Amino acid sequence: MRRIQSVKAMTTWSAGLHREGVTIGLVPTMGALHDGHRALIRAARLACDAVAVSIFVNPLQFGPLEDFDRYPRSLPRDLRLCEREGVDAVFVPRAQELYQPAFETAVSVQRLTRRYEGLSRPGHFGGVTTVVTKLLNIVRPERAFFGQKDYQQTVVVERLVADLNLETKIVMRPTVREPDGLALSSRNRFLSPAERKAATVLYQALLAGRELIRAGERSVKKIEAAMTKLIWAEPLARLDYLAVVHPTTLDEVRRVRGRVVLLLAAWIGETRLIDNLVVSVR
Ligand SMILES: Nc1ncnc2c1ncn2[C@@H]1O[C@H](COP(=O)(O)OP(=O)(O)OP(=O)(O)O)[C@@H](O)[C@H]1O
Ligand SMILES: [Mg+2]
Repeated sequence: MRRIQSVKAMTTWSAGLHREGVTIGLVPTMGALHDGHRALIRAARLACDAVAVSIFVNPLQFGPLEDFDRYPRSLPRDLRLCEREGVDAVFVPRAQELYQPAFETAVSVQRLTRRYEGLSRPGHFGGVTTVVTKLLNIVRPERAFFGQKDYQQTVVVERLVADLNLETKIVMRPTVREPDGLALSSRNRFLSPAERKAATVLYQALLAGRELIRAGERSVKKIEAAMTKLIWAEPLARLDYLAVVHPTTLDEVRRVRGRVVLLLAAWIGETRLIDNLVVSVR
């Protein structure tokens, strides 16, 4: 496995493989790798000849009051996980190189980012879309793999790639969960034992919403009310947003038809978690 730090070395690695007709799958991450990342790596392994994982805690996507400084970092462990998973190259760029002092360009997706995560975390998606554009330009992967856990992010990246005619195919993979349903997230390690228990309320609320829909409920108002009530009943949880949305436009719907996504974010103590569920009806 190659460990690559400079942009030049990364583009050279990628160009060399492309000359030999080798396809590349990229898994962009912020490190502190877990089984969700592992599932993305395995999907890349199956679909592409070579796999690159990027590990970069992108300062641009954290707000000034967010947890950039205390974001979990575990590079030696991450490298071992990648090695075990048969990753070909780990790209660990330095912020000083990606964002030179004169850096002043931003890539932004408009309407899709002005809601949900974008409202709660101003500036967040601008950081995400800018760094993803840079990573795709540096690595030039045939495919890049993203998790459904960050549903809005994946939709935003799909929009970005289509709008800017980038040549990478974006692949969304299902959310990997703990046995009790909690979506894996690097931030779960911030939870105290009591908070860890309380955190299952996110998935419980999503399941309750899906059950109501399966039982025939089509009114989003009623579905949201039932889900909200469940989250309010958990004293350690504070709901940030809850929405029932169209899977590609992310517009809120009033009645459930076809396929919808139940999206939510909640604070569990000082830790903010997100989750979602896609539900289809006939
Ligand atoms: N539980 C999961 N299942 C599948 N994919 C996941 C899961 N968690 C994260 N991913 C995906 O891994 C990629 C990298 O995400 P990232 O490194 O931010 O990890 P994370 O667990 O989301 O961390 P955090 O929640 O702290 O942001 C993203 O595409 C994200 O959607
Ligand atoms: Mg994340």
